[in-house]
Amino acid sequence: MHGNNVVVLYIQILNRKNFFAFAGMSLFAAGGIYYLSTDKRNFVRNDISEVGIKPPFLLPDEANILYLASLAPSGHNAQPWLVKYIAPFHWIICNDKDRWLLGVDPTQRETLLSIGAFLQNLEFAANESGYACHFTQLATTNQAEEVVSVTLTKANHLIGFDTQKIIQRRTVRSHYLGDLLQKKDLDFLLNEATETIQYIPNTTKEHRWLNEQTIEANRLQAYRDAAEKELADWIRFSSKDAKAHSDGLTLASMEIDGVAAWYLRNFYGKADVMKKGFREKSIDTAKAQVATSAGWLLITSDDYSVASLLETGKRLQRLLLKIRERNIAIHPMTQILEETATAQMVQTSLGITQPIQFILRVGYLAYYPEPVSLRRPVDKFIILNGA
Ligand SMILES: Cc1cc2nc3c(=O)[nH]c(=O)nc-3n(C[C@H](O)[C@H](O)[C@H](O)COP(=O)(O)O)c2cc1C
Repeated sequence: MHGNNVVVLYIQILNRKNFFAFAGMSLFAAGGIYYLSTDKRNFVRNDISEVGIKPPFLLPDEANILYLASLAPSGHNAQPWLVKYIAPFHWIICNDKDRWLLGVDPTQRETLLSIGAFLQNLEFAANESGYACHFTQLATTNQAEEVVSVTLTKANHLIGFDTQKIIQRRTVRSHYLGDLLQKKDLDFLLNEATETIQYIPNTTKEHRWLNEQTIEANRLQAYRDAAEKELADWIRFSSKDAKAHSDGLTLASMEIDGVAAWYLRNFYGKADVMKKGFREKSIDTAKAQVATSAGWLLITSDDYSVASLLETGKRLQRLLLKIRERNIAIHPMTQILEETATAQMVQTSLGITQPIQFILRVGYLAYYPEPVSLRRPVDKFIILNGA
C-alpha cells in the first residue's frame, strides 16, 4: 500500500472511531442531561423539616408533642387526625372527614384505630416532656368530628419514654426472614396483652389459611374500582406530589427504589393504577409478601365501640414501638377485614369470637431500614378553635 494511502486510511479509521466515540459520548451526554432533567430521587422523610412551620400560638413543647403524635401509622398514610386548639395544652383531637378511606373503610373503623395510635404517641411524647395527659372521650360514633379532649399538666414522677422509638418506628414490607418468633421475643411483645394479641406461627394451618385469604382479598380489592381508585388517589408517584402533600404512599414507603422507582416517578400516574398490569402486580406483590414471615399476629378487641377501637389503636402502637429493638418488623395486611366476602369468614374459620381488628404479618429482618414515610407538618393539622 502506498504510504499516502496508508495515512489517508489511518485518518479515515481514526475519524470513524472518533465519530463513534463522539456519537457515543453525545448520546451519553444527552442521556445524562435527560436524566438530570427528570425526577431523580425518592422524596423521603429526611427531606422535610421536622416540625414544619410552627403556628405562632403553639408553644415549643406542644409543637414537639403533636409532631411526635403524628408519626403514628394510618391506613394509606392518610393521617386522619385534626387538632382543635382550645387553649395552651388543651386540645380536641378530631376525625378529619376529608381523610376518610371510603373505599376500604366505609365505617371508619380503621380511622379510629389510627387515631388511637396517634393518642398513644401523644401520651408517650407528653410523658417524656414531663406532662400527664387527661383524656375525655367525646365521640360516641365513628363519624363524630370531635373524638377526644386532652389536657396536659406538668407532673412529677412520670415514667419517661424514649421518643427515638416513636421516630424510628416504621412499617416494613419486604425482606422478611422465615424464622419463627422466639419465645423470649414473643413474651416481650405480648406481655401486657396475651388476651388480645395472638401469634399464628408459620407452621400452622391457620397461617396457611390467612396467607391464602390475604391473597384472595388482595385480588378482590385490586379489581374493586372504588378501592383501586382510592388507592390511586393516595399514591404519590412523583417527588413533587409527595412534597406537596406530605402524606399518602410514596414509592420509598412502598420500598420501591432504583430504576423501577425512577421509571414510576417519571412515567406513572393515577390512570396507570387502574390498568390490569398494575392490579396484577399488586396481587403478585401480596403473594410474595405472605410467602415469607414468622407468621401472623392478630389483635382483637372487646367490641366495636369507639372506646374499644381507640384502645386497640393504642395497643397496636405500643406493640409497634417495641419491635425495632428486637429486629422484628410488622406489616398490617388489612384486606381480609376490608373485603366483605373474606371478612365474613375470618372470625368463624379461625374460631375467634372477639372482633379481629388487625391482621399483621410479622417477621425478623436482617437489616432494618430507616423510616421514610411522610407526615404533614403540625400547622397543616391544627386549627385554632373557632377559626
Ligand atoms: C389501620 C391501619 C391499616 C393499615 N393497612 C395496611 C395495609 O393493608 N397494607 C399495608 O401495606 N400497610 C398498611 N398499614 C400501614 C400504613 O400504610 C403505614 O402506617 C403508613 O403508610 C405510614 O407508614 P409508616 O408506618 O412507615 O410510618 C396500615 C396502618 C394502619 C394504622
